[in-house]
Amino acid sequence: MKKKNSVLIAGGGSTYTPGIVMTLLENMDEFPVRKIKLYDNDKERQETLAEACKIIIAEKAPEVEFLYTTDPEEAFTDVDFVMAQLRVGKYAMREQDEKIPLKYDVVGQETCGPGGIAYGMRSIGPVIELIDYMEKYSPNAWLLNYSNPAAIVAEATRRLRPNSRIINICDMPVCLEEIMARVLKLNSRKDMEVRYYGLNHFGWWTSIKDKDGNDLMEKIKEHVRLRGYTEDIPAGQHKEESWLEAMRAAKELLEIEPETLPNTYLKYYLMADDTVAHANKDYTRANEVMDRREKQIFETCNKIIKDGTSEGCGIKSSEHSTYIIDLAKALAYNTKERMLLIVENKGAIENFDRTAMVEIPCIVGKDGYEPMVMGAIPTFQKGLMEQQVASEKLTVEAWIEGSYQKLWQAITMSKTVPSAKVAKLILDDLIEANKEFWPILK
Ligand code: NAD
Ligand code: G6P
Ligand code: MN
Repeated sequence: MKKKNSVLIAGGGSTYTPGIVMTLLENMDEFPVRKIKLYDNDKERQETLAEACKIIIAEKAPEVEFLYTTDPEEAFTDVDFVMAQLRVGKYAMREQDEKIPLKYDVVGQETCGPGGIAYGMRSIGPVIELIDYMEKYSPNAWLLNYSNPAAIVAEATRRLRPNSRIINICDMPVCLEEIMARVLKLNSRKDMEVRYYGLNHFGWWTSIKDKDGNDLMEKIKEHVRLRGYTEDIPAGQHKEESWLEAMRAAKELLEIEPETLPNTYLKYYLMADDTVAHANKDYTRANEVMDRREKQIFETCNKIIKDGTSEGCGIKSSEHSTYIIDLAKALAYNTKERMLLIVENKGAIENFDRTAMVEIPCIVGKDGYEPMVMGAIPTFQKGLMEQQVASEKLTVEAWIEGSYQKLWQAITMSKTVPSAKVAKLILDDLIEANKEFWPILK
């Protein structure tokens, strides 16, 4: 009999929470759960989603204990897995992250460029706080973190809590692999074996094979050369028009670097001018998400509460949540699944900073993860990654030391920013907007 798990979702008020709960309930055979808890620091926001989850759980798996709380002790006691999805500053601050750089004709994006740096400066403290709560109340648990910006958060946890049981992950490669699998008419991305390297939201596939070892790269490239990743997108946000632009960009990204297959996030660095030219400075992705996903999920949950049933509510499990649960499953039951994780390089990429947090395939089992050796990488990717990782490391140093100078350098270092002067203008606006969240910079 499999041991049953207690799962805490931190950031219980997240738009992803009902989908994750649904996926947990649908996977009880492979990943049995005895308890689901939600934790957030916004009581009211969490309450609506939690009351709806309570109904869903009572209908689908009444044996599962459920509670939601804003109290860390209650939340973190008796937990096996913490699934963390904080958005520090919520969508109101995402909007600032996107709009402030755009004012200066610089990419305005949640996790890339100055916006990502600003978000990083907000996320570091609260994610460290989650680790500390977990270590205090459930020291044997694992923290599966996808709170963004995952690259900066991962570097911060490496620096500040080097021995903690945190694993940082991202769903973008998973989504793109699902597209590739569908293009190839395979049943699922799990029918492919991939090699990939880079930083979070900054990477490349070098090999994609089927389970018999046959190379599938050429077939996928042929398709991407014509259509990017615009076809066969799995259900969810990546189907929306604003995401399609990134999916289309894959075509151009492949022209720039034809040996590998690109992660769409490279668009913000290699096609920054086009990205800015197509942006609406008054209505960014944050506005879209507030008007769509956030509104919709709260409406759905309010309806579930009003009707007293989740019958026909339309909440579905997603690729995003299955990936997180696959990781928990691998750790709990030693599945040895190969998964892309954000881990300390330590020589896996031979000619790259050993201390960089890189995104590479790892074998995951009961004792954690074992990174796979990626060997030496070419000059183009190496150069880009060195610049980006320097920006991420400077951000974390700026947070630790409270250093204005280092944060200015971090923003200057981002390939999305044209000059140190523009970096300073953006930084000064970001400081003003983030007063409530950032350490004081001297
Ligand atoms: P959301 O704003 O709906 O949810 C975030 C929740 O975190 C909110 O309820 C908020 O109150 C809570 N929160 C903020 N600060 C907190 C703190 N200090 N302690 C406890 N709770 C806190 O956001 P969302 O769009 O659903 O996204 C949630 C997070 O998941 C974001 O960080 C997003 O970037 C991330 N995400 C990451 C990936 C990935 O690939 N790594 C994929 C999808 C989403
Ligand atoms: C992808 C990325 C996540 C990011 C999300 C944003 O899934 O991997 O890291 O948070 O996109 O999506 P959104 O719909 O909020 O713009
Ligand atoms: Mn991601």
